[in-house]
Amino acid sequence: DALRDFVKGLPKAELHLHLEGSLEPELMFALAQRNAVAIPYETVDAVRAAYDFSNLQDFLDIYYAGADVLRDERDFYDLTMAYLKRMAQENVQHVEVFFDPQTHTDRGIAFEAVADGILAALDDGERDFGITSGLILCFLRHLSEEAAFDVLAMADPYLDRILGVGLDSSELGHPPSKFARIFKEAGARGLKRVAHAGEEGPAPYIHEALDILHVDRIDHGNRCLDDPELVARLARSGMTLTLCPLSNLKLCVIDDMAHHPLKSMMESGLHVMVNSDDPAYFGGYLTDNYLAVAQALNLSRDDLAVLAKNSFRGSFLDGTAKARHM
Ligand code: HPA
Ligand code: ZN
Repeated sequence: DALRDFVKGLPKAELHLHLEGSLEPELMFALAQRNAVAIPYETVDAVRAAYDFSNLQDFLDIYYAGADVLRDERDFYDLTMAYLKRMAQENVQHVEVFFDPQTHTDRGIAFEAVADGILAALDDGERDFGITSGLILCFLRHLSEEAAFDVLAMADPYLDRILGVGLDSSELGHPPSKFARIFKEAGARGLKRVAHAGEEGPAPYIHEALDILHVDRIDHGNRCLDDPELVARLARSGMTLTLCPLSNLKLCVIDDMAHHPLKSMMESGLHVMVNSDDPAYFGGYLTDNYLAVAQALNLSRDDLAVLAKNSFRGSFLDGTAKARHM
């Protein structure tokens, strides 16, 4: 339809995408077969039927289990390339994507296999589709800070090809302050810093991400709305919040898309933009996420164009490249 074509045609960037969360059930089956890995599902439909979550942890349990089919460099290449191919069809021109190395190294997969596969696909994605990209290494916050230091050491030879570090996984009980030292170290190495904060966790976790981790972006950030002074601070500083509407619905962060805070956040002057988070698990890629909020919140085409512009403004592209896209 016309609105879908409009959104699809807008030049867009995606800044909050977990590569492991783009593993479609079809590819999961193909990799299970290729690597002779048993998976607890009979059919692709059975996999999709299992994607019925009541909170973040429900999802994470299934997401980490699904990642078990990823075994060698080619698997990580195929995963990344499949995502980029889809993005090329939606006029997504720039992506800054997350990966969770600990999910793989903790089950004996070499860091090099993960990083080499992903980086080769990002290179080919730029060559074949003109999609520029950056790679963000996420620390799993349910694990220790010491474990995060171990993964940063493994990444050491790759740091010139890694854009930044992030913080994901189970938020409640694992506040940003737990990772103060590793984020300081990452900053000292010239890496950008982002963190999931205020998805399920409370507004003080967003304060910690700002004041203790010195993040350059907040991933999600929905719960800032509980704290009007925090909203004013985020708006004043022009901090980008990477919102994920379909994720919020599937993980019961909101009970209805009509209650998504995106529109009120825009009206409060927050720099919000739209992302898909884990599209294979949450039922839609980038265009679907724009359309979900457009329809539920009655967004105008101008609103959608602002969101698309914000996607480049919030990126880590340099000023010249941003201007070229906006
Ligand atoms: N939140 C936290 N951790 C995650 C997510 C998320 O939405 N997706 C993948 N890891
Ligand atoms: Zn996320």
